[in-house]
Amino acid sequence: SGMRFTVAIDGPAAAGKGTISRAVAAHFGFGHLDTGLLYRAVGAKGGDPAAAAAGLEPADLERGDLRSAEAGQAASRVAALPEVRAALVEFQRRFARREGGAVLDGRDIGTVICPEAEVKLFVTASDEERARRRWLELAAKGGVQSEAEVLADLRERDRRDREREAAPLRPAPDALLLDTTELTIDAAVAKAIKAIELRQAQGRE
Ligand code: CDP
Ligand code: CDP
Repeated sequence: SGMRFTVAIDGPAAAGKGTISRAVAAHFGFGHLDTGLLYRAVGAKGGDPAAAAAGLEPADLERGDLRSAEAGQAASRVAALPEVRAALVEFQRRFARREGGAVLDGRDIGTVICPEAEVKLFVTASDEERARRRWLELAAKGGVQSEAEVLADLRERDRRDREREAAPLRPAPDALLLDTTELTIDAAVAKAIKAIELRQAQGRE
């Protein structure tokens, strides 16, 4: 029978969740779901957000502008709506239990989507470091925002994500906190891989 193993990776914007998730998925051969992309796609579709979430299709995730700051803001606004979140739960849970293992990254994976995940990481970094990293990323793609504007954007989104009623951003009680402020990508990924290997070894005992 196939192996089922779920890694939940949550944290604020531009902390390194996606980077760690992709590396962990490649290392272990797990599937990876960037759940932020679902909310970005719902926000970008326009119209009634609940209907957009209920009718979300794979092609909606291929739109070219989903990584922009505007798409991030639109995502965090629709993400506060309980009907939007509810419409996306089943798809995420099914992905989490897929054979061969799964990594999901977002805001509520360890708290709401997969409270039973075998490994939960809460990835953070200082506001300034996160803004610097996201600014570098956006600038490389021709973005025109200043670093200060990116910082303000991330802070506004984080505050909305933390203060909302529906599935607010917070660490699960049993999440491992991973502060990447002073870590290289390789060092952060190595810590995540260690945590997963430790849990896999426990499962075999
Ligand atoms: O998924 P999330 O928004 O949490 O962050 P990300 O897109 O994975 O990472 C934001 C940027 O920070 C990317 O350009 C990474 O290469 C960079 N970065 C990192 O993730 N971790 C470090 N230790 C250093 C840089
Ligand atoms: O890459 P970054 O961390 O900047 O953002 P993202 O992960 O793509 O998420 C965009 C927005 O979607 C977040 O600011 C949240 O409002 C929302 N989101 C959420 O509410 N729950 C999730 N599981 C993932 C994202």
